[in-house]
Amino acid sequence: MNRGQRILGPRVIVALDYPSADRALALVSRLDPSLCRVKVGKELFTRAGPVLVRHLVDAGFDVFLDLKFHDIPNTVAQACRAAADLGVWMINVHALGGRRMMEAARAALDDGTDHRPLLVAVTVLTSMEGSDLADVGLHGTPAEHVRSLAKLAGDSGLDGVVCSAREVAELRLAHGDGFLLVTPGIRPEGSAHGDQKRVMSPRQAIAAGSSYLVMGRPVTQADDPVAVLRSIEADLAV
Ligand code: C5P
Repeated sequence: MNRGQRILGPRVIVALDYPSADRALALVSRLDPSLCRVKVGKELFTRAGPVLVRHLVDAGFDVFLDLKFHDIPNTVAQACRAAADLGVWMINVHALGGRRMMEAARAALDDGTDHRPLLVAVTVLTSMEGSDLADVGLHGTPAEHVRSLAKLAGDSGLDGVVCSAREVAELRLAHGDGFLLVTPGIRPEGSAHGDQKRVMSPRQAIAAGSSYLVMGRPVTQADDPVAVLRSIEADLAV
């Protein structure tokens, strides 16, 4: 199941997609850092901020701060440093910010600190279709842009990319085992798909070469989130 990647600890990153710190913490109080990592995105961060992130870090969770930075290189570099200072485990930027922006982010994290979060890039948002790309002057298919932006991210020294599970096999082949592939759109067998159109099970995604699985509603809306996580863990261990 590991396909040669050296991944230690839980593969599932639970997306804390809540409008308040209280609701996020109510779920987190039922979870354990040995079972999952957690993701804080734009909504929760904008409402609950660094205080919540520090609380999660202090509770022992690996935190993926999913703020998708995209700005001039200096600004992104400083934002990445600020994130590192919060003690988060992983952060991300948009690959469309370009090589200099990604290299500046990389350099800011490598610069004189003992805490170096993983740095991954978003290539093309999965909500974008070919016509959306054409509207902003990007010609070619989404798959072509994913391919070239993932290469740019790798060449710029990033640790990996966020991608849909259907892109994993090709990207794993192109980039080898050292490149992180973080995949949302994961649904355990038999669970509701919600608004996700192209889903894979945890087992399928890991078998295809995914490094980490981002999962929101199948865990956050479960009556027993721990049971869901334990059953995924057991499924992946086979
Ligand atoms: O509830 P669900 O499992 O669909 O949540 C998936 C999480 O991954 C959400 O936080 C969503 O914003 C994020 N995500 C996604 N698709 C992408 C990128 C991020 O679903 N392409």
